[in-house]
Amino acid sequence: MPNSKPKKKKTTVAADVDIVPKGTSDNWAYTGTVKDHFFNPRNLVIDVSKMKGYDGLGMVGSPACGDMMKIWVKVDKKTDKIKEMKWQTFGCGSAIAATSMLSVMVTEKGGMKIDKALSVKPQDITKRLGDLPTRKIHCSVLGDKALRSAVNNYFIKSGQKDRVVKEQVRIIDREAKVTDHDIEEAVLEGAHTLEAVQKKTKVGVGNPEVIPEVEQLIRFYTEKYFG
Ligand code: FES
Repeated sequence: MPNSKPKKKKTTVAADVDIVPKGTSDNWAYTGTVKDHFFNPRNLVIDVSKMKGYDGLGMVGSPACGDMMKIWVKVDKKTDKIKEMKWQTFGCGSAIAATSMLSVMVTEKGGMKIDKALSVKPQDITKRLGDLPTRKIHCSVLGDKALRSAVNNYFIKSGQKDRVVKEQVRIIDREAKVTDHDIEEAVLEGAHTLEAVQKKTKVGVGNPEVIPEVEQLIRFYTEKYFG
């Protein structure tokens, strides 16, 4: 008698799906490492109430997309190394994967010295992830900024105010109310030409004398994050 048991339907595993928007030339394929860190995030905080006894807490939001990131650090005061980095985010998959990887990088092999951890660049994270789609590079910056904020919090709490790294904001175009950070965000969002940055920020539209400085900043941030 033939087996009349209904065959199980094949289901699509979300981890195998890449987002490739139609009508664009962008490659939005995610590497296996990105998917692994997204589906199995390392050092993720589920229960915030358990986060006691940490040396520093940092929090940042991304003006580019409105996502948030919180990072907790434990520091070995004798060696100045980061022993633990925990995090939580209301961010996208790329932010989750990038921050998970960052948490591994700064705590592996006994922990990274604080000064070295502060110099980890978004390119270092994306290299370990095997790359991120260009439009998602800004997501890796979120964890990086939150780590700086957590370390600054540790410096303040441990009486090392002289080590606090200040984020300076410079106004580039008063009329359009655009700062260097706005230009940085625009570049991170994929605007690498003056026209593209102006489309996002209106910088220099009514104030053309700022354009040479804007062009210089576009070159600087493009080199910094994509170079
Ligand atoms: S889109 Fe907001 S962090 Fe990725």
